[in-house]
Amino acid sequence: MALSPDSRERLIQAAVAARKRAYAPYSGYQVGAALLTIGNTIISGCNVENGVYPATICAERTAVVKAVSDGSQKFIAIAVATDDGAYPCGICRQTLYEFAPDLVVLIADSSGRLIAETPLIDLLPHGFRLNASNTNRSHVTP
Ligand code: THU
Repeated sequence: MALSPDSRERLIQAAVAARKRAYAPYSGYQVGAALLTIGNTIISGCNVENGVYPATICAERTAVVKAVSDGSQKFIAIAVATDDGAYPCGICRQTLYEFAPDLVVLIADSSGRLIAETPLIDLLPHGFRLNASNTNRSHVTP
């Protein structure tokens, strides 16, 4: 689905605002994300770090978890805002792919400047999907 200039701008601004709420005392690297749902609502997320480092959650996955737990599973686009215009990590790409293989990804810097707009599948070719052909339950003992 095509993104209107207005939706693109609102999404980027939501990601920029979410970035300011990041809890990143260990890395000092703040990330904001904002998902646009098919219902035209915006759900944002920031990275939330933890002193047990692997317990940290990225901004993009925070947004997905918030959206799904509030009842939204269909997404059109995500904006990600960082200081240096970074792209989502591999785990986040796969998390996004689970719900929205056709997602549009907007990459912005912390001032809201659009750096790139790319389809998720270009960032994650051949993403994994769990289905009957790649599980083999006949080998599982009941
Ligand atoms: N981070 C994200 O929030 N999203 C990404 O896609 C990559 C990394 C966060 C995790 C951690 O809090 C900080 O950035 C440094 O890795």
